[in-house]
Amino acid sequence: MQEKNNTETMRLDKFLGATGCCSRTDAKKIIRSGGVAVNGRAVRNPEEKICPETDEVFFAGKRIQYRKYTYIMLNKPEGYVSATEDGREKTVLDLLPDDMNKSKLFPCGRLDKNTLGLMLITDNGELSHRLLAPASHVSKSYGFKSKKEVTPAEAEKFEKGLTLEDGYVTKPARIELYDGKMSGTVYLVEGKYHQIKRMFEAMDNKIVYLERLTFGPLTLDTELERGQWRYLTDEEIRLLSEAGEKKNANNPI
Ligand code: URA
Repeated sequence: MQEKNNTETMRLDKFLGATGCCSRTDAKKIIRSGGVAVNGRAVRNPEEKICPETDEVFFAGKRIQYRKYTYIMLNKPEGYVSATEDGREKTVLDLLPDDMNKSKLFPCGRLDKNTLGLMLITDNGELSHRLLAPASHVSKSYGFKSKKEVTPAEAEKFEKGLTLEDGYVTKPARIELYDGKMSGTVYLVEGKYHQIKRMFEAMDNKIVYLERLTFGPLTLDTELERGQWRYLTDEEIRLLSEAGEKKNANNPI
């Protein structure tokens, strides 16, 4: 491999696992079978050290680019908590494979245990912090079902700002109602604890189903079944980084 001073090296199987082209277990098998080339040479030893930033790794004929951070889109099912560990409950990290190095991964933001849908999992603390900072105004949208109809007057209040039980006045939001007025989509630019449930309680109503559909520029991949995940594409990562920089990014409100 290319010798480089002061450049970190990494095992080839770990590199492939970290870039998301396959699991580390599969990477070992594929490397042993000669399916991976580094700088034009087939490498059959999964433990061989490579320099991720400078070595050219080809897997199934495709150049595999080094990524410093991991970004995962998960379709969260019910019954999992948004945490890295929990003494009693299953966490969203339990849905990722055992052979993935999860030690630095965490969910970016929280969804309630019974909320479904789009969850971003990453190890990029700085980007996560920017995406969640109130000043970034990164929008989120949620499909919902409620116990009772939402009246036009309530929808108007919802959009202007509702006073929650602790006195907090919510920022302008948007609600799109479907036929029957007991379901629709809510768009928010903030993420207070149990925010949507509390907004509905402030309207003397109750959320019975909640699913996050978008987070900034990310849209829940309809190919992902509940509990399934995939790595973000380069384009999604680029858009996400931009969203953390711009005020009112992707704000449909
Ligand atoms: N609002 C809620 O009430 N719960 C969630 O999980 C997300 C937004």
